[in-house]
Amino acid sequence: MLKVVAPMAGITDADFLNKVIPYGFNVATLGGYSLDTPTIEASKRIIERGRKEFVFPLDVIFSHIESEVASIKKVHNNVKVSANVRATTPQPIIEVGKIKDLDIVEINCHCRQEEILSVGCGQEMLKRDDLREFISQIVDNVDCEVSVKIRANVDGVDTLSIAKAIEDSGADYLHVDAMKKGIFEADWDLLNRICENTGIKVIGNNSVNSIENVKKMIDTGVYGFSIARSVISGNLDFNITNF
Ligand SMILES: Cc1cc2nc3c(=O)[nH]c(=O)nc-3n(C[C@H](O)[C@H](O)[C@H](O)COP(=O)(O)O)c2cc1C
Repeated sequence: MLKVVAPMAGITDADFLNKVIPYGFNVATLGGYSLDTPTIEASKRIIERGRKEFVFPLDVIFSHIESEVASIKKVHNNVKVSANVRATTPQPIIEVGKIKDLDIVEINCHCRQEEILSVGCGQEMLKRDDLREFISQIVDNVDCEVSVKIRANVDGVDTLSIAKAIEDSGADYLHVDAMKKGIFEADWDLLNRICENTGIKVIGNNSVNSIENVKKMIDTGVYGFSIARSVISGNLDFNITNF
């Protein structure tokens, strides 16, 4: 079972991940990182209004990710390292997908920060007619596995159709934040429907904050699960080592 530290922009760097991996994770996600001028400028505007982000100039970002991957592998060489990234075109994502020792490049179709949406990235990607081709170009040109992180239940988007399109694109993993407006747990039923109706490896995310919810998540049929907010303090106060 994949047990993934989910990305948290401005928080999940190598130092943070090295601290939380020993709680039982076998995949650690760096980022999210913005990789081109429109997304970097959007990240700067997010910081201006007081939210944390990782922002690196274009001439530094790729070598920075490479050194972060090396910092994790030096301490935890059995853990897969993933990098969650945003860009307006496939090319910079392909470049990340060639970074030495990076195991997974994760395309961010999830963020809902207005600044990121305004450049067509984050969950706005789910509305692209060419989403499948966008992802396929990356799948066909990288040396590592490809994950696509989506937000479920976005207005105007049929999550199950998107899941099928992502499976058709050849991506290895579908990482689903199964958030549903108005409920305080993941949309377990939707996750179950995605698992039943696709063959892609699904990483379930949202509200895994107790052993009870780990079990509910596993019961949906997911290949793995991920945790973000429950590790924000740098530790995890429930035991996932036995799953
Ligand atoms: C502070 C913070 C920053 C986040 N940044 C990102 C990000 O950069 N990319 C991404 O795909 N998800 C990001 N997320 C979403 C989480 O990865 C996760 O999908 C969400 O918090 C739900 O999972 P949880 O209930 O385990 O926290 C962020 C979440 C938080 C709390």
